Parts: sequence; structure tokens; C-alpha cells
Amino acid sequence: MKKHIEDFAFLGGKKAFNHPLHIAQINLPPWEDVKSAFRGIFERRYFANHGPLVRELDHRFAEFVKTEHAVCVTNGTVALMILARALELSGEVIVPAYTFPATVQALSWAGLTPVLCDVDPKTQMVTPETIEPHITPRTSGILAVHLWGQPCEPEILENFASDRGLVLFFDACHGIGCSTNSRRIGNFGAGEAFSFHATKVLNGGEGGCITTNNAQLADKLRTIRNFHPSETFAPVPLRINGKMSEAQAALALLSLKEYPENVAANFHRYEAYRLGLSGIPGVSLLEYNPASDNNYQYIIVEIDEKLAGLHRNIFFELLSAENVICRRHFYPGIHNMTPYSKMASTASSNFTGTDWLCQSSLQLPTSQVMTEQDVKMVCRLVRSIQLLADPIRSKMDDKP
Ligand SMILES: Cc1ncc(COP(=O)(O)O)c(C=O)c1O
Repeated sequence: MKKHIEDFAFLGGKKAFNHPLHIAQINLPPWEDVKSAFRGIFERRYFANHGPLVRELDHRFAEFVKTEHAVCVTNGTVALMILARALELSGEVIVPAYTFPATVQALSWAGLTPVLCDVDPKTQMVTPETIEPHITPRTSGILAVHLWGQPCEPEILENFASDRGLVLFFDACHGIGCSTNSRRIGNFGAGEAFSFHATKVLNGGEGGCITTNNAQLADKLRTIRNFHPSETFAPVPLRINGKMSEAQAALALLSLKEYPENVAANFHRYEAYRLGLSGIPGVSLLEYNPASDNNYQYIIVEIDEKLAGLHRNIFFELLSAENVICRRHFYPGIHNMTPYSKMASTASSNFTGTDWLCQSSLQLPTSQVMTEQDVKMVCRLVRSIQLLADPIRSKMDDKP
């Protein structure tokens, strides 16, 4: 426990951790399993172009998500681009300003105009109320995001979009394995895009997938992901190289097998954080909805400066100096990033919820390599920083 401000590494003390604790680190399967999977790839000399492992992953991921179709691709960004193209949208698509930049960039790459909307600061996700003011005669779709390993309210959004004749689709990059009312993410809207990036609960190093229950759309997705005309299934406006490699599929298949253990370990660390952070004034851990299935891949706290006595950025500086690698999400918000900050629709909109989150949200580390002791130590650091808020603030004010 750091009792004096000089004990903090940022102010000259010893670092709490010798090695950086990253916000997320790849969940590695056993090396022997990886060796055996890669031996198969070498023996077959089949590395790309819809090999047997990619075909197996298409099948297994559809089974896991309980959708009729899963189309594996290079990464989550390409999954979003291909999905937006296959839906043949035009004009404007409404998308939250509080999301990972790739959500919005994918729309731009697909030739669409993203129109940013605010989020509910409580759930950190879009609602009909945050979307409604942005609907214009040019709006063709809504791209909603399931953030932080839990579902947004997809059924409410489905009704809302259908009443207005808009196409709804989802960025499900964080939402692998989650469900609401026994319906798995992957089955909502016209289609959903997943990421198998190394920081995700299911990973192939890089990788992504699009799921849908619409056979016609699935044919288009499969056609777009392959630039080569020999695998044509459906007439599409444009194609790309969105193919997943056998190496990605091999890792993702192993990761899929380990999904239940990885989520259980995530939950265990989340609970340790919940205990360790409880009662710290102004520091609140994002709560997961107990009625849904969540993957607990993200430890997100909100720091209310008025109650904690320090701004989130000071927690960020002090923790980073201790080797606790944190991230300020999604600072500064897409509405403040080029080119979206310059759009007329951005200038005329209100982003109160997004601005609050961009100023107060902090992601803390959780990963396979973190022990319960590590989690306790991170929580003790957060508690000490808050307890010493006054002298830290005075010292930071004096710092050049
Ligand atoms: C919400 C969200 N959408 C999209 C992406 C892009 O996924 P990928 O990194 O697989 O391209 C990410 C990646 O971290 C993400 O967090």
C-alpha cells in the first residue's frame, strides 16, 4: 500500500509492477495444441484461399453463435466494411460517437456517410432516444455497437429500426458469446460483425467474422470477401481481399474451444476488481447486466472528479507510471477526430454522454497472465491514489 505521495512511481517512488500489465493480452492456447494445428497446415501446404480450417471455423462459429451463416474474414474492420457493402446501403448511417474509431471508419471506407449520435452515459451505448434526432430522409441504416462484452438492447433497437424502415446492423467486435433473452449476439439486425483480434476473448491473432440468418446476404458476404471471380455466388457491386488465413483460423479454433474457461477466468478477475474497488469515492466499475450473458473481457471504471478529488487523467498518469497500463476510452471521441469533427451533422449535434465518458472512463488491465494478487494490487493503488487525492493534486499543480 502506498501511504505517501513520494511512494508513487510518477513522483519518484518504486514501480508497483516490474513488468507492464497490459489492458488485454492474448489468451494463449497450450503450445502443444498450437504446434499440432500448425503442423497440419504445413503438411497440407495450404495457407490461404478458404482452406479446411477457415471452412471449419465458418461452420463452428455459426454453431457457437447459433446463426445460420458465419463468414470469416481478415479482421473486424473488414467485417464491418464488407457487411455495410453487402447491405447495399446508401447515404447516411447513424453510428455512436462513443466507439472504437474503426466502427466509423469502416462506414467511410464502404462509401457511406457516418452520422454520429450520442450514447446513454449509463450503458455507454446507443438508445432510440440518442438515435432519433439524427434521422433524415438520407438515412438508410443504423450501426449499433455492443460495447464492453455485453449486449446493447438489440431487441428494442430492432423494433425502432423496423418502425422507421431503416436497416439495423451491429458492431459485435466486443460481443463474442454474449446473449440477451437467450438469443446470442450474432442473430440481431441484418447482420453482425465480430473481431478476433488478439485483445478479444476469442482470438486468431487478427481475424473477424460476419454472421447473419439471411442466406442471400450470406452469399453476398462470401462473394465480397473474395476478390477472385472463381468463387462467385451473388452479384455484388465491389469485391475485396477479405480472406482469413489458415494460421488465423487455426488459432481461432483453439480459442473457441477454450471460450468457457477464458470467460470464467475473466469473470473471476472482474469479481476481484469489484471487491477491490468497492467503496472508493468517485470510482465506479461498469456493471454488467445480470440478466444477459456477458464475456467480462473489459474492466471499465468511471472516475467522477468531483467525488474522487482527482481527474481521471491523473489516475491514468499515476497508474501508468506503476506499470499498470490503462486506456482512456474513447478519448477524445470520434466527434472530435478528423474527418468527422468537420462534418456539419457533427457540429450541430449534442454529445453530452460521449463527452462525459471520454473525460471519465478508464480501462484497467485484465488478462490471462494476471493473478488475483495483481488485481488486488491494482485496486490498492487506485484506493491509495484516491485517499491521497488532495496532496497529489497540490503536487501535480506544482509540477512543471
Ligand atoms: C468496437 C470495435 N469495433 C471494431 C474494431 C475493429 O476490429 P479489428 O481490430 O479486428 O479490425 C474493434 C477493435 O478493437 C473494436 O473494439
